[in-house]
Amino acid sequence: MFEIEIDSNTTPEIQYQELNGQLMALLSGERDLICNAAQFSAFIMQTVADLNWSGFYFARSKELVLGPYVGKVACTRIPFGRGVCGAAAQTKETQRIEDVYAFEGHIACDSASASEVVIPIIVDGHLIGVFDMDSPKTGRFSEVDQAGLERLVETFVAATDFGWSF
Ligand code: SME
Repeated sequence: MFEIEIDSNTTPEIQYQELNGQLMALLSGERDLICNAAQFSAFIMQTVADLNWSGFYFARSKELVLGPYVGKVACTRIPFGRGVCGAAAQTKETQRIEDVYAFEGHIACDSASASEVVIPIIVDGHLIGVFDMDSPKTGRFSEVDQAGLERLVETFVAATDFGWSF
């Protein structure tokens, strides 16, 4: 069984570095998109505190379609430009939202979600989809979290074959 061990007595920056090493080890030897996306969603849910949803939406034309995730059932299709995920897809920039109820157009899949970070997945200049994390805590995600999570998404991208998806 794969064990994840993170030293909680260090800074968040070091913890994210340690997580990144663990993620590389977890994904090594497997490049399948669905498999790695499922593992990545579970890895994030297991290692990042205070999350209630972690998962993917993949770009299909100008819509996002639900992919592998961990959490309560979620909305299946989100047009580009709608909600936090749609904003990340349209702008191709990470959306870090302290209070989702103050974000116009936020799509409340789970009323318990209070803050959210959505990271676009760009491969060779193509938008493949987004990775979405929700938290029941307002202001859960700091700039350090954003940088650390973006690095983890980069590791997922480097470890995965996307050939058939665009
Ligand atoms: N809240 C998201 C929708 C997806 S769920 O959080 C899983 C949004 O506004 O795009």
